[in-house]
Formats: sequence, C-alpha cells, structure tokens
Amino acid sequence: MAEVIRPTEAFEQSEPYEALPGGAATLRNTTDRDAFSHPSANMSFERELDFLLGKALFEKIWVSSPSSTQASDGLGPLYDARSCQACHIRDGRGQPPDQDGSVSMIVRLARPGGGPDPVYGRQLQDLALPGHAAEAQIAVRYREIPIELAGGETVVLRQPEYDLGTLGYGPLNGETVFSARVAPPMIGLGLLEAIPEQDILALVDEDDRDGNGISGRANWVWSRDGEQPMLGRFGWKAGEATIRDQSAAAFANDIGISSPLFPDGWGDCSAAQATCRAAPHGDGDIRDTEIDGAGLELVSFYSRNLAVPERRLPDDPEVLRGKQVFYDTGCVGCHVPKHVTARLADQPEQSFQLIWPYTDLLLHDMGDGLADALPEGRADGHEWRTPPLWGIGLTAEVSGYSRFLHDGRARSLLEAILWHGGEAEPQQTAVIAMTPADRAALIRFLESL
Ligand code: HEC
Ligand code: HEC
Repeated sequence: MAEVIRPTEAFEQSEPYEALPGGAATLRNTTDRDAFSHPSANMSFERELDFLLGKALFEKIWVSSPSSTQASDGLGPLYDARSCQACHIRDGRGQPPDQDGSVSMIVRLARPGGGPDPVYGRQLQDLALPGHAAEAQIAVRYREIPIELAGGETVVLRQPEYDLGTLGYGPLNGETVFSARVAPPMIGLGLLEAIPEQDILALVDEDDRDGNGISGRANWVWSRDGEQPMLGRFGWKAGEATIRDQSAAAFANDIGISSPLFPDGWGDCSAAQATCRAAPHGDGDIRDTEIDGAGLELVSFYSRNLAVPERRLPDDPEVLRGKQVFYDTGCVGCHVPKHVTARLADQPEQSFQLIWPYTDLLLHDMGDGLADALPEGRADGHEWRTPPLWGIGLTAEVSGYSRFLHDGRARSLLEAILWHGGEAEPQQTAVIAMTPADRAALIRFLESL
C-alpha cells in the first residue's frame, strides 16, 4: 500500500487512475455549474433515492414555529440561513459578504479555553425571527497588500477587517475572539471520512523529525456522534470528527434546528438570551427534535456522497510541468496527493478506493497573515487544516466567482498561495521567486484538479 500512495517522481505522463480523484465514485464527463451536485458515480439505484431525499432536506427552507407545516418548522429563533444550500451554494464554496450582503459566511466565537461566549454562544447569528434581535451584521473591509513577483508581475492581496455592526445583546465578552469562515465545497467528504485514522496519524510530525520544516498535528475533538474524543477532519480547523457531527452542528448553530445530537430547540441561544430560549420551538409536536435521527442520517448520507469530478487534461504538457513544480516546491508536504480508503461494508461508494484529495487532514501553523485568535479542539489561532484541492479548478464554473481560503479573502489561486506563511513560508517564497512560466504551469495544474 505504501508503494501505491507514495508521491510520484515521474512527470512525463499522468499516473494510473490520477484522472479519477474520487476513485470509482468520480463523476465523469461533467464540468458545468452543477458539477458538484451529483451523487457518487458508483451508487446503486436504490441508494440514489436516499441521496435525493437527503438533497431535498439539504435544500429545504425551514420556517418559524408554530406553523401549519409542522415538518419544516423550528427555524431559529436566531439563525444565519434558512437552508444548508443557502451557504453551500450549488454544493460549492461560499463567499464573504459584499455590498448586497451574503449569508455564506459564519463567525465563530470562543474564549481562550475554547468555551463559548457567555451571551452570544458558539457563533454569531446575523438573522432572527420577528420579536428577536439579530446578534450582529457582518461587514468586511480590505486592506491591500501588494507583492511583487520575480518577472515583474505585482499581485495585490487583501487583508480582511471585520465590522460586526450593532451587537444585539450588548458588547462581546472582553476575552471572546472570533473567526470568520466561508462555507467549504461539499464534494468528496465521505471519502475523506473513510481515510483510515492510522494513515492520517502516520503523517503527524509534531516535532518535525524529518526536518522538512513541516510539522502537522492531529486535531482531537469531542464527537457527539461517536460519544468519544475522535480525530477532527471537517471544518477549516478540523473541528468536527464526522459528517454527522458537522451536519448536526450546522443544523443547530446555522439554522437553529435541533437533532438527536443537539436536542435544544433554541439552537445557539445562550441562557443569557432568555426570550430566545422561551420562544416556541418546532419539537414536541410530531417529532422529538426539529429534525429526527432519520432526517439527520439522510442529510449526512447526501453530504457524504457528492461526487468529485474527474480531472481535466491531466496529460497536457503544461499541466504535467505544473504538477512537477507542485511536487518539487514541497506543496505535497501538506497537500498529500493520494490515500486509500478503508474497506466499509455498509458504505460501498467509499469503500477501498484510491483517492487524490491533496490533503493530509492535519493542522499546520500558517503564519500571522492567516491567523485568527480562535482555539478549536487542539488547534490554536495560527493553525488551519490543509484543505483538499480536488475540484478547485471548477470553482468559478460552479460558483460564478473565485474565492479561496477560510475567509474567502483570496480572489485567485495565486493569491491563495501567496498568503501561505508559517510552515509553508518556504513554498510561498519559492512561488514568488520562480519563473513566470513555472508559476503559470503551477496554476494550470491546480486548475486541472
Ligand atoms: C450559514 C452558512 C452555512 C449553513 C447554513 C450551513 N453551512 Fe455547512 N459549513 C459552513 C461553514 C462556514 C463551514 C466551515 C465550518 C468551520 O470551519 O468550522 C461549513 C462546513 C460544512 C461541512 C464540512 C465541510 C468540510 O470540508 O470540512 C459540512 C459537511 C457541512 N458544512 C454540511 C452542512 C449541512 C448538512 C448544513 C445544513 C444542515 C450546512 N452545512 C449548513 C457554512 C454553512
Ligand atoms: C504547511 C502546509 C502547506 C503547504 C506546504 C502548502 N499548503 Fe496550501 N494550504 C494549507 C492550508 C492549511 C491551507 C488553508 C489556509 C486557510 O484557509 O487559511 C491551504 C490552502 C491552499 C489553497 C486554497 C484552498 C482553498 O480551498 O481555499 C491552495 C490553492 C493551496 N493551498 C495551494 C498550495 C500550493 C500550490 C502549495 C505549494 C506552493 C501549497 N499550497 C503549500 C497548507 C499548506
């Protein structure tokens, strides 16, 4: 197995199966704006029906309680969006707010030990039902930072500064810090969940014993789903262990919907927000929680099975050259190309596949430029999980815009690379110093993913 997943040293042609980043689950022949919305290609017809039921719940618009449509009520009272799809637009990534406002960004809150803000809870909700104050309005301004590259090109980076507007429930606790994050794309998540834990832990190198400047730490987080501490895999700081954990947390914090994992009908309202807690909720009528265990499982099944599209032109000479630049520059130190998923009897779509996500799922210190102060599990303010790069070249096609990194500050792949610091500073420096032709080839390779 080690042989199969070792990064290649030959770049004359693409490797066997490289064109199919999601293994047999890979979506073929589709690169249009719906390219992220298809089920795993190896899914049976019967299971596709569950996928469609999950999709309906992912797109469902929740309404306030009490309501005649009892199966869809329970929204809020405080919320960021009324559906999953509102943020994960066409199952792709979100973007920071612009002049027209935007809902696909969230603002997480924590105090130094990781606990919630005593009033505002785990997250700021910028929308509220009538009779309740919204917690904040989130606006962003940018400070421009020009960087000159070898060859003469200048790239302007944008450093975000947030304005939380009028806070609805008084000032934030003096110790509370916040972290603004856009919705990541939804493809390939079940495959990432299926990478054996020991394979990820084998990449951990906390004290950089191999001396390559890259350490890599595992996040360990409490899993409500597994009822034990587990390896974090999902979210920009790997703060959630399983897709069911992440989905239930999204229902609670983003939409105000309770589930068996988050049974409180008031979502993220704290004890200090008494009116919110006392408001009518959608549970206790025909359901124990606003979405029941079966519904949560369908949404999780959907989230697990959005297919990764096949590569475009992996044998194009410039793509192959860019691939070599990606490997030679050391990007693969974190964006680990291949993994083999576990054998899973009840998940045939994800079982035992050679996949190409370009991530180690570990935390890395990315320097001051990208740091927030927010701790999450074992992750500190400087650490971020290496995001998968599969499908990244289809971002503009699917979303109609290109916004990268945890807060969507980067408008292009090159800007995203130039923000790399900390453990990845040598790679950033190398990209600045390389020839324009090598840099163009590197971008071309990323666009082919
Ligand atoms: C208000 C916007 C918003 C809504 C609504 C929303 N999400 Fe998300 N989603 C996000 C953000 C932001 C993240 C990254 C979270 C983090 O870093 O902690 C995320 C992360 C995820 C992830 C992990 C992806 C990854 O690559 O690690 C999954 C799965 C997910 N959301 C599923 C859902 C489901 C299911 C729903 C509906 C119940 C939902 N989301 C609703 C914004 C949203
Ligand atoms: C030390 C680990 C590390 C190295 C080395 C590294 N990256 Fe990254 N990369 C990350 C992390 C972590 C992020 C997410 C940072 C954030 O969102 O704030 C990221 C984000 C990205 C993104 C944006 C992804 C997205 O979904 O928005 C791209 C593109 C990218 N890296 C490409 C590269 C390239 C090309 C190289 C080599 C020149 C490289 N990276 C080297 C860790 C690394």
